[in-house]
Parts: sequence; structure tokens; C-alpha cells
Amino acid sequence: MSVDKVLANAEQGFQASMARLFTLLRIPSISTDPAYKQHCAEAADVLVAELKAMGFDAAARPTGGHPMIVAHYKSKTATAKTPHVLFYGHYDMQPVDPVDLWHTKPFEPTLKKDKDGVERIYGRGTADDKGQLMTFVEAARAWITTTGSVPINATFLIEGEEESGSPSLIPFLKANKAELSCDVAFVCDTNMWDAKTPAITTRLRGLVHEEIIITSPSIDLHSGMYGGAAMNPIRAMSKLIAALHDKNGRVAIPGFYTGVAELPKAVKKQWASLKFSEKKFLGAVGLKSAAGEKGRSVIELIWSRPTAEVNGIWGGYTGAGGKTVIPSKAHAKLTFRLVGKQNPKKVLAAFQAFAKKQMPKDAVITFSGHGGGSPASEISEDNMFIQKSSAALKTEFKKEAVLMGSGGSIPIVRCFKDILGMDSVLVGFGLNDDAIHSPNEKYNVSSFQRGIKSWIRIMGALGE
Ligand code: BES
Repeated sequence: MSVDKVLANAEQGFQASMARLFTLLRIPSISTDPAYKQHCAEAADVLVAELKAMGFDAAARPTGGHPMIVAHYKSKTATAKTPHVLFYGHYDMQPVDPVDLWHTKPFEPTLKKDKDGVERIYGRGTADDKGQLMTFVEAARAWITTTGSVPINATFLIEGEEESGSPSLIPFLKANKAELSCDVAFVCDTNMWDAKTPAITTRLRGLVHEEIIITSPSIDLHSGMYGGAAMNPIRAMSKLIAALHDKNGRVAIPGFYTGVAELPKAVKKQWASLKFSEKKFLGAVGLKSAAGEKGRSVIELIWSRPTAEVNGIWGGYTGAGGKTVIPSKAHAKLTFRLVGKQNPKKVLAAFQAFAKKQMPKDAVITFSGHGGGSPASEISEDNMFIQKSSAALKTEFKKEAVLMGSGGSIPIVRCFKDILGMDSVLVGFGLNDDAIHSPNEKYNVSSFQRGIKSWIRIMGALGE
């Protein structure tokens, strides 16, 4: 049976697959920081060269931002019934700060056997998303080297702006609609249930970004000469941030919960049956109790409830020693995670109206968010591609795949549906402790290896 041969080939070639992943990980393709623009282009070029060498018709297409990789493969074994499948991943990554908290160099991928005997690859982008995207690239490679072809018609779409809000994505999908519309999209940017249990994610939260500046005096002031008379913008900022949540952990912005429904009883029951350990989940990051809305389980809070978070706050003097100053400005960056039918534009407008109302006299707030934002996604579980993938994952892991939600956001999933009319199947091999977006990000070697094998099986099942 050819799937077994392909799996054996992937196993034999695993060290070479690791080497190719490491080459990609050494390129600091941080999309949000203009200083790394050339490196983003370089990462795209490396991937395009690999895909071309495998026989894909591949190119790094220019956009208003970082290049978008599009690569097509026409299966040599396809019949009229063989599906055309799009695989999506992203080659960009998050910034590495605070860099002094890393135990290894973020752009020097390091293979380590930890004290628990588990082998892990440490470095920025290992799990999010270079390690993950290379699982489907290496699976396709194993099919081609073993059988001469991928068993399905495949299009790889590998983005370079996922970590910075995908500004070029919508125009790109609209401009290339016919070329990119496939039977289904597979997105490899999510987690497993645990290291031994595969998962398919069927819910993602949406996301809205905002940045605010509060200005009070027109210049920095001596805090003795003016203190007591002048409004301090940090005080106004603190008042606003303190007002975001009520005493029960609920977001206090009027209208914020419009479009948020209670979970259907059946879903609540299925989630309860997963036996999720809140203690372990919170304990692993030094916490003891959930901070969100009271009376809801952690799983419910993450998978089905919206949030208002402050991601950064600064202003005034933060250098060594003290400085007696009333600053002119205070800054903060916020994000809102959305669920259900919450509308990103309305959430943003509701927040802005609320924030203006919170301002004391002589504190002027301005908003400099990028606008936009993406709504939440829910994918129907009785999709044929989900069922085939679930069966293939079960064969690989000898365990049923968990259908789960995710607190993270992958805006492209809604774009695939709304612009290309295509459902997405979210299969990924990350783990909760991968520390994505954090210092010491890692990807387990077993995630990489079993990820490759899972895609080999899924591609095989879809080609049958
Ligand atoms: N891979 C993540 C999303 C994710 C996180 C899925 C955890 C499953 C579990 C994705 O790359 C990501 O980080 N997305 C960003 C959104 C982006 C617009 C900045 C996020 O969720 O913050």
C-alpha cells in the first residue's frame, strides 16, 4: 500500500526535513517590524525555491506588504473526483522581546532533550508557524519522492503578514479569487488536545486591535510646580483601564456583548466530557484562578467568551532613578477577542464611545488602531473533509481526534469562507506549552514528525 511506503520515506528522510526547517527558522521574518522586511522576503524566497524543486509551480507574489507565496501542484494520479485542496500557513513570526528571557538564541534553532526526556526544538517561529507549515510541505515531498506525485491537486498559500493582522490578505484573495478557490482549505496553525491526542479546531475567536493616546498638558511638567493643578494622563489612562471590567470580570463597555449567545446545552456537555484540567492549565503558567467572567469554566472562557485585554501600557519616566514629572502623554495597546456574531466595527465604536466618556476634564483621547478586525469563526462538524481528516488522525495517533475550540484568532478562516466560499479544516500539531508569542517558543520533535505523518495520511485519504 503506497501510504505505508510514503510514511517510511518520511521517516527515513526526517533528519533532512529537520535541517530544512532549521534553515527556515534561522531567518528572522518578523512581519510587524519594518527593520525585518528583507528577512521576510528571504524566508519567502527559501520556501519558493524548495517548492519549485519539488515540482510546484511556485512564486512569491508581491503585495502592498510582505510577499504572499502561492504554489500549485497538479496531481499526476488525479481523476475528475480528486479534490483540489488549499493548504495555508504563515512564514512570518512575532517579535522576540523580551530577549533576555530566552535561554537559547531565538533565531538559532536549538534541539534539546529536556529533563522529562522529550525532544524539543527551541526558537522563534518553531510552533507558530514555521514548524507547522513545514509539516505539510514535507508530507507533500514524501509523496512526490515515493510515488512521483501528490495524490491530490494542491495549492499552498503561505502568508507573510499573519502576525501583523494580514493587511494584504483580503485584497489578494479578491484579486486572485478564481485561482485560489478550492474545494476546501486546510489550515495548519492550531494545537493538538495534548501531546498524544490529535485535535481538529472548529471554533476560533475574532480579533480587534486598538491603540490609544491620552494627552493632558501640552508639554511634560514639573510635578511640584504643577502637581495638584494639572491632570496627569496616566491617571486618566488608569481610570479608563480600571473601568473596562466590572467586579464579576465582565467587560463593562455598553453593547459589547451584542451577538454573544450562551452555549447550546449539548456543546457544554461535550466540553465537560473532555475533562480539561483547569488546575494544570493555569498552574503551568504560575496561576491559580481564572480571571474572566465569574461562574464560567476556563474552557468556556477561552473558547466561547469575548475579552478586552491591555497588551501594553506606557508613559512618563521609566528610566533608572526617579524623575518628578507629570507627562504630557500616556499610551496603551488593547485587543478584543470576539465570539459568536460580535461585529468588529461595532465593538470598536462601542469601545471608543466608552473611552471618551471616561475621560476627565483636560484629558484628550485619540485612537490610532489600524481599524478592521475580524469576526469569530465556527465550522460545522459534519463537513466531509473534517470526517476524513478525523479518521486519518485516528489511524496515526490510535486515538480519536478531539473537536475543540481555540482562544486564538486566524482571521484568514473567515476570509476563505466570505471571499472564496470555502470551508476550512483546522488541523495543527502545536501544544499549549509551546510558548508561542513568548520567550522560549518551542515545537516538540514529535509534533513535527507526527504532523508530517498525519498530512501524509490525510493527503492519501483525500486522494482515494
Ligand atoms: N497560531 C495562532 C493562533 C492560535 C493560537 C491557534 C493558539 C490555536 C491556539 C496564530 O498564528 C496567531 O497567533 N494569531 C494571532 C492573530 C493575529 C491577527 C495577530 C492571535 O491569535 O493573536
